[in-house]
Amino acid sequence: MSPKPIRKAVFPVAGLGTRFLPATKVVPKELLPVVDRPLIQYAVDEAREAGIEQMIFVTGRGKTGIVEHFDIAFELEKTMTERGKDLSVLEPTRATPGDVIAVRQQVPLGLGHAIWCARAIVGDEPFAIFLPDELMVAREGGTGCMKQMVEAYNEVGGNLISVLEVPMEQVSSYGVIDPGAADGALTEVRGLVEKPPLAEAPSNKIVSGRYILQPEVMRVLEHQGKGAGGEIQLTDAMAKMIGQQPFHAVTFDGARYDCGSKVGFVEATLAIALARPDMGAEVRAIAEKLLG
Ligand code: G1P
Repeated sequence: MSPKPIRKAVFPVAGLGTRFLPATKVVPKELLPVVDRPLIQYAVDEAREAGIEQMIFVTGRGKTGIVEHFDIAFELEKTMTERGKDLSVLEPTRATPGDVIAVRQQVPLGLGHAIWCARAIVGDEPFAIFLPDELMVAREGGTGCMKQMVEAYNEVGGNLISVLEVPMEQVSSYGVIDPGAADGALTEVRGLVEKPPLAEAPSNKIVSGRYILQPEVMRVLEHQGKGAGGEIQLTDAMAKMIGQQPFHAVTFDGARYDCGSKVGFVEATLAIALARPDMGAEVRAIAEKLLG
């Protein structure tokens, strides 16, 4: 019997984006464009590709622009239509009515707390989580990260996280897995630790911002105390599910850009621009000129 389908995704987007000030004083970080699509659009498109229908945004004050982005801009569309302009570029921003839901995280108590804020909307179903800072790009002709995860989920069920290997000295910035038996892209997860000191890190495989979790995690989060950085950590709650339910890691076959950092954001912008058929050659020529 195949496991219950993944129909809902939670996007924690309440963060203040202080690393990108002053750009993020008024504009939510998730709306900053990588070439011509806002960061959040990449995550939502990846969710749709994986068959996910409902998008649940955990927002905060000043971040309502994210919800606006997925609404129909009536005046814009009317004016464009009158001028005979092509509206297809707006297609990915149109949500099916009722499929974009926003809940508020009033106080920034951590990622685990942000996810818990969506519990009533998630209900009693397995669900996906996307951290939009982690920009996952499919190989040419390949599939996105969440679609690869859903395919694995249909085989093994339970809980899945995406992982990737980083140089050992970077592990303390991430959630880290204690890997068990591996089978192709799938690795059993024996343990999870959030931002461990280097000496205590069980591996260099880090949690890279995509999750498929069973609804029981909400019950664990309900009682989850503060962890690394004094925050309620999703990683700590997931760690408690290991042994209770299947728990696997999927190594994404594709590229990942850490848009939580400025350099990562520039890297993503360059890589995506270079790969675009409409501008790649021009951007390459410019990059070569700049590099002398
Ligand atoms: C969060 C998670 C961490 C994960 C990381 C990926 O950390 O808590 O487990 O590895 O995202 O980007 P944050 O970047 O919010 O500190």
